[in-house]
Amino acid sequence: MSAPASEARRGLSGYFSVSQGRADRWRTVHRYARSLADGGGKDEGLRARAAAEIAALEPLEELCAYPGPALIARLKERLQGGDYGAFARLAQRISISLLSNSYRDDVEAWKSEDEGDAHTPDVLPPGIGRGQARKPYFEVLVVSPGDRSTWPETREGLRRLRRDTDAFVYEPVVVASFEDAVLAAIVNYNIQSVVIYDGFAYPSQHDVQDLREVLGPHMPAKKDVADGDLGTLLAQVLRAYRPELDVYLATDRDVGALAGSDEAACIRRVFYGLEEMLEIHLSILDGISDRYATPYFDNLKKYAQRPIGTFHALPVARGKSIFKSNWIRDMGEFYGTNLFLAESSATTGGLDSLLEPTGNIKVAQDKAARALGGDRSFFVTNGTSTANKIVHMAVLQPGDIVLIDRDCHKSHHYGLVLAGAQPYYIDAFPLTQYSMYGSLAIRPVKEALLHLKAEGKLDRAKLLVLTNCTFDGHVANVEQTMLECLAIKPDLIFLWDEAWFGFARFSPFLRRRTAMGATARIRAMLADPAYKERYKAFRAKVGEIDPKNKALLDTPLLPDPDKVRLRVYETDSVHKSMSSLRQGSIIVVADQDFHKVEPMFKESYFTHTSTSPNLQIIASLDLARRQMELEGYELVQRATQLAIELRRDINSHPLISKYFRAATPAEMIPAEYRRSGFTDFGAPGWTLAKTIGALDSDEFFLDPSRVTVLCGNAGYDGSQFKAILAAEHDIQINKTSRNSVLVQVNINNTKSDVAHLVKALADMSREIDKRLAEGGEPARAAFKARVQSLVSDVPDLPNFTRFHDAFRENPKAASNEGNMRAAFYLAANPAACEYLRLNSKELDERLKKGPELVSAKFVIPYPPGFPIMVPGQVVSEETITFMRKLDVKEIHGYNASLGLELLKPDALAQLKGKAPAAGERAPKSTLVGA
Ligand SMILES: Cc1ncc(COP(=O)(O)O)c(C=O)c1O
Repeated sequence: MSAPASEARRGLSGYFSVSQGRADRWRTVHRYARSLADGGGKDEGLRARAAAEIAALEPLEELCAYPGPALIARLKERLQGGDYGAFARLAQRISISLLSNSYRDDVEAWKSEDEGDAHTPDVLPPGIGRGQARKPYFEVLVVSPGDRSTWPETREGLRRLRRDTDAFVYEPVVVASFEDAVLAAIVNYNIQSVVIYDGFAYPSQHDVQDLREVLGPHMPAKKDVADGDLGTLLAQVLRAYRPELDVYLATDRDVGALAGSDEAACIRRVFYGLEEMLEIHLSILDGISDRYATPYFDNLKKYAQRPIGTFHALPVARGKSIFKSNWIRDMGEFYGTNLFLAESSATTGGLDSLLEPTGNIKVAQDKAARALGGDRSFFVTNGTSTANKIVHMAVLQPGDIVLIDRDCHKSHHYGLVLAGAQPYYIDAFPLTQYSMYGSLAIRPVKEALLHLKAEGKLDRAKLLVLTNCTFDGHVANVEQTMLECLAIKPDLIFLWDEAWFGFARFSPFLRRRTAMGATARIRAMLADPAYKERYKAFRAKVGEIDPKNKALLDTPLLPDPDKVRLRVYETDSVHKSMSSLRQGSIIVVADQDFHKVEPMFKESYFTHTSTSPNLQIIASLDLARRQMELEGYELVQRATQLAIELRRDINSHPLISKYFRAATPAEMIPAEYRRSGFTDFGAPGWTLAKTIGALDSDEFFLDPSRVTVLCGNAGYDGSQFKAILAAEHDIQINKTSRNSVLVQVNINNTKSDVAHLVKALADMSREIDKRLAEGGEPARAAFKARVQSLVSDVPDLPNFTRFHDAFRENPKAASNEGNMRAAFYLAANPAACEYLRLNSKELDERLKKGPELVSAKFVIPYPPGFPIMVPGQVVSEETITFMRKLDVKEIHGYNASLGLELLKPDALAQLKGKAPAAGERAPKSTLVGA
């Protein structure tokens, strides 16, 4: 059997998840082993390939506890001895255990002999098992200066410290160099703690090109690698890559001084010398306990077990009216007892109060802030829709100006109406060919700020609202955006709507592109004394920020370190990308002036939060945090890899790619925003290092897990395609556009899910092929016309026009903010409104001859899901054309039988010359309500 091209060993640096590359290699070993066992034993080439594959795996295996040196030695013995049956059985066991992670629970996986053999296992972590007795398993990386011959004793020493009372069980992995330690953290997601004994070497013990490429982008600059002890530097590098890891340092330096130093701030505990083995063991378990503990959930479980009599509202609490009911007993059977036992409307009994948390909810929120990289966090039990409104109302005052992407989620637009702030709408770059917008580029945001500066209104510009990533996966360059805006307005507040992007915190690649990841980088930059010099040089070159200087738009700007205030808010729908129940959301704050808004933040939180928050949602937020702190790295790496493979499977399939396509970054992001030239994940010549370069430099990056599948070439519009996937293939997707659907891969998806989708696409493609072949020329012509209409005949996207003059303080100003709240409340008076049917002649006449059409409402079609009109906006011909071409049923704010709801010209005329005061609820109108 010769190796087919597809089986040629792929470079590890071509994987986003190196552990996936490792699992793939084990699958290859297993395949070779099966062929050898099935009669291929005489094939010397096959045998050599199997041996080479194992040899290539060995450096990786040294970084992982399972299968471990003993099982690998046995595997090699069997191959060398020609016992191919036993070789295949062991290869299969290892490969499957690795794929399913069953070795974390299943003692059989660790056995050195085949099932049925009487040998006792030689490396078997005690305590792993199922059910109540199960102890979660993890691995501890020990970085030791000791010679390889001392490693077994080091491992054994830690194993001997295990006690029956330990809540968790771990296996040690020993390495002896800086590079191998970083590699282990990359490759081995089981590693949760790192014990560093100072005095180890720098270079890896394995000079493997593949691994060098994986390692390269994460290593410190050569100048930072001083001679001597590297322990603290290693701790910093590990922290940057996986911030959740607990790092311990044992050293013979002056530990008292070291422990209090900045360089050791990322180390959980410092130990002196080698004498503290038991303390180290206990600290390791304590660190895991800290991440494992879910204070709210743990307490809720305890509460549910207590025989509490409830005399408050919420009859479902304890479930008695349900389990004894004649008619709704199935409710209890379906949901189970715990849901009802864990219900209460009381905030006593250790349940704490979401509205005024002082106990376990407060601790749970603090832990979530730690996990997500913020200074503080607030749980929200009715979605990011509410989280966004809370932030708007907390940081804004009536009349403030907010720079905002018109394409962002409707909660922001409504939030502005509530807060009375004035939106300054900025359009995202269009992707007309797919009937969607991209994201907000930095240049138009700077331009808006410079307009405001020129008009003397910069002090009113309080907030910039951006979506990161967008529904379709456009990831902003958060760091660059904030730096450039702060250069113009040093105390601008940022609200990053990361409803879809919470998981990215746990990706070492995407983290830098999250609000909190970028905030950490900016904080470090501003704290570095070298930044002052950099800023000085910048100022010398660029001078004052002068709004008349158009060159500033194309010059990367730097903020003044003496003026800048870093004020960042991030909202995450935990339920969209992590394991919380629906509506679980969180606000993460890193605002150095939070004290200024704290009282208003409370008021806003009280305004929007139910006094009966759902306890199960709070508990699930606590649990989602636990999961991500302990296995976020593993899950996100796997999901990302899966998404990249899905993209590859679709685009490289000869039949599927005739009709369908996973839109690449090059197709989703115009070239001007991809300075690095990045075109696709895994494109030839693109190593991981180069991809990380693109993440650092490009204005936009595409979240690989959001896969836009173009279906226009198959003759389906998005809604049709979505319906076929659901009805005929049991596949659910959510968002569609005129000629695409969005496939989202998350931590819940498996390779089988990907196979399910690929099979559906292949079946549909075969079906189209057949239909076209059997239908002859007429069918082909009809198909061609349909494809043409879906792919080429796409409506222009309707950009934001402007607010009607009645809602602008200075209609001639270049800035476009308007008093949307005034328009919103003007529309509350029916006498101020009129309706025009969408397809009426009257509407066309008005467009041509006036008076201007002014929307009374937010009009939001689904898809695309952004407001094509907002209250007070002048309606253009483009907007009407777009709306007429829309073939969607759900349009919020529009009733087809009545027509478009508009503000009457005479109502607007009454306001002329009486521009509403900033933030005024509604201008005075003499029109009488119906
Ligand atoms: C960008 C964005 N922000 C906020 C939300 C609202 O989030 P939630 O569903 O958690 O209320 C959505 C919902 O789709 C969204 O797309």
